[in-house]
Amino acid sequence: MRLCHLDELPDGSARGFDPHASGRDSLFVVRCGPVLRAWVNACPHHGTPLAWRKDAYLNAAGDRIVCAAHGAQFDIDSGLCTLGPCLGDALKPVELHVHRDGDIHLFTFENDETHS
Ligand code: FES
Repeated sequence: MRLCHLDELPDGSARGFDPHASGRDSLFVVRCGPVLRAWVNACPHHGTPLAWRKDAYLNAAGDRIVCAAHGAQFDIDSGLCTLGPCLGDALKPVELHVHRDGDIHLFTFENDETHS
């Protein structure tokens, strides 16, 4: 399933997607240069979405993923919580596939939590 093109995801940005048309973004993608990381949009603390508004997944410095509910911070690369109430827990990864033309696709995305 196609999410977007690399050109639509600027370096240092994050963007949420709703591939199953559930009415809310069930996953998000963070771009750091050529590297893309995708995570299920559910905080390991309470399972709630992380962003307080559309695509607001990163802190001001753009170097950590932040949960708006209680301020947990996560390493962009590993998804590991480095600060906050779920310290040591991690976001659930989503596997992507980037086509040669720059289109970003979901590799697989069958996690039941994403359908709720
Ligand atoms: S729900 Fe994310 S820190 Fe509490």
